[in-house]
Amino acid sequence: GGRLYRHFVPLDYKLMTDYAKSIVESVSPAPEEIAMKNTTLRRITEICSNLVPGSRIIPFGSLVSGFATKGADMDVIFAHDTLDPQPFSHESSIPVKLANEFLKRGFEVDLLIRTRVPILKIKTPGSGEPRSRPGSPSAEEVLKEDLGEEPWPENISCDIGFKAHLGITNSYFFRTYSQCDPRFREMVLFVKQWSKNRDLNSPYFGTLSSYGYVLMVAHFLINIVQPPVLPNLQLIPPEPDTPESELTQDGFNIWYFKDISKITSGELLPGGKNQMGLGQLLYEFFQYFTTNFNFVGEVVTIRRPGGVMYKQEKGWTSARERVGEMTTYQDRYLLALEDPFEITHNVGRTCGGPGVRRIRGEMQRAAQIIRKVSTPPAPESPATAA
Ligand code: CTP
Ligand code: MG
Repeated sequence: GGRLYRHFVPLDYKLMTDYAKSIVESVSPAPEEIAMKNTTLRRITEICSNLVPGSRIIPFGSLVSGFATKGADMDVIFAHDTLDPQPFSHESSIPVKLANEFLKRGFEVDLLIRTRVPILKIKTPGSGEPRSRPGSPSAEEVLKEDLGEEPWPENISCDIGFKAHLGITNSYFFRTYSQCDPRFREMVLFVKQWSKNRDLNSPYFGTLSSYGYVLMVAHFLINIVQPPVLPNLQLIPPEPDTPESELTQDGFNIWYFKDISKITSGELLPGGKNQMGLGQLLYEFFQYFTTNFNFVGEVVTIRRPGGVMYKQEKGWTSARERVGEMTTYQDRYLLALEDPFEITHNVGRTCGGPGVRRIRGEMQRAAQIIRKVSTPPAPESPATAA
């Protein structure tokens, strides 16, 4: 029958590739935005180091990995060697001091203390603030007068964490991966945008973080698609003289191969280069999670060769409570995504049952749509005309 035959017609992904590239283009930040953020970061760093001598601001997240979309937040860690014995809710503790400092400069400030470690959320003064009432000086004029400060670019948000963690390491890890092949970043930006459009990117409301989608894309490009688009950088053994700081952190194995010239030469992919376009890769990505990946029993993993891992072998089977310093977490394993370094951490734990069902349903829908737009018109025949 003509119907069955149509499924075997090779799909033509040109339309999808062009569409995906246009989406990637439209969500990518312009060079001016990147420059402006770098300047803002420098100024924030200066304010912090003036307040706490010897402190540093370490960027991580999409700022480092290159997965930032237009208007994305900046994620940084405040690091210092001075001991701050104050509980962080105390008015003289460093997070509170910083919060007050940015308040004084007209920032919107929010200090979260119910999280594992405190997070200070700051946002540069925006145009929404009352500025110049006639006759009275604007907020900016007051600031310039009081602090001699240049105006800040509007509405840039920055999350400041107070504990160095593996997020810094994993951001550089994915930065290295994205230097292997431009399709990685393109896939990530498209999937990130898709997840936001389809309301599947709300870790606080039962779905997945952007970082979770990064892991899914990486798993697919490293371990699933044949030939792979990306080599597995964690499987290439370190040289014997590799310093300890590159091997372990917080008790976790953080080694990965970092020699960019060897990575880009293609010698790490002996099976030959994967030539698929963005459209086909996206189709195969959604198709893989729709029909091949077993959400009930399997774990999405990056480090494991072949990419097959079971919840059973990690003991990730039933929900359990984990008691942290501040709060008790509900660990769930409905969607299991193994962090590349902190392998005891399920990045998918934010997903509840309804969230997982919606993610799966939307992936199926995406695959169907791409299949539809990529199916060449059927040859003229009486059967299809009917
Ligand atoms: N991160 C992590 N573990 C998680 C979530 C996040 O280590 N479970 C770290 C990662 O280093 C990641 C960074 O936090 O790069 C930011 O994560 P996320 O907000 O999910 O990604 P963004 O690229 O900032 O995406 P968005 O624009 O949606 O905020
Ligand atoms: Mg973020």
